[in-house]
Amino acid sequence: MAGDGPLEPGSVPTHVGIIMDGNGRWATARKLPRSSGHQEGLEAAKRIVRAAADTGTRYLSLYAFSTENWNRTADEVKFLMGLVTGYLRKELPFYQQVGVRVVHSGDLKRLPRAVRNEVKGVIADTRQFNRIIVNLALNYGGRDEILRSVNRIWKRRLKDSEATPLDADQLRRSLDLPDFPDPDLVIRTGGERRLSNFLIWQCAYAELYFCDKLWPDWGYDDYLAAVRDYSRRKRNFGGSR
Ligand code: IPE
Ligand code: IPE
Ligand code: MG
Repeated sequence: MAGDGPLEPGSVPTHVGIIMDGNGRWATARKLPRSSGHQEGLEAAKRIVRAAADTGTRYLSLYAFSTENWNRTADEVKFLMGLVTGYLRKELPFYQQVGVRVVHSGDLKRLPRAVRNEVKGVIADTRQFNRIIVNLALNYGGRDEILRSVNRIWKRRLKDSEATPLDADQLRRSLDLPDFPDPDLVIRTGGERRLSNFLIWQCAYAELYFCDKLWPDWGYDDYLAAVRDYSRRKRNFGGSR
């Protein structure tokens, strides 16, 4: 790999978001059902969580199911939900070995009860692990999250009849994971160059990394290459260069 060598500790991203795309195309190219692509995608997710933990990424957000993914066929949605209930808690030895604490963002209320319980269960099971915090964005949409945040504030305000204007900090603190820093780096695999409603408030200044390789093909070195690319960038936040 070009530019090998140790990464400077100060240059690694604290929070990385990943839009794990390309499962369906991976399967179709092999004349397999789309579900095989999702199954393989799960393996890729485990490889990348390990890579992220080893690289010193403290927070990792994985986009697993968007608020728009309900538009897929009932069979595909059912398969994806089944992956969650079938594997999320079962991977406890993996979380323990790598030191993964799992948290969730998105609208839990609108997920099937079994999925909801599985998510709540894994959050409780992994509360004590602290090498990396993995945010599973499931039934997540950036616009939906902002709306839910505004509505939470609105509800609170109805009670204490507060009349001061809402500021950005208040809105930020009412998002799903108020303690998560904004992503430094967002990776999208699978060749598309868009955010598809992922962390749209938090990504205001994220560095973007697009890669054609399909998600099930992603491995440890691909993550390292993305982090290395990030480490060479100069962030500016609107200042003079
Ligand atoms: C990403 O892969 C996984 C989910 C959105 C759940 P896709 O299923 O979108 O794969 P492509 O884009 O059809 O190849
Ligand atoms: C984004 O991928 C959502 C997830 C990876 C969960 P999609 O495949 O759903 O996005 P679009 O439809 O190509 O924008
Ligand atoms: Mg896709």
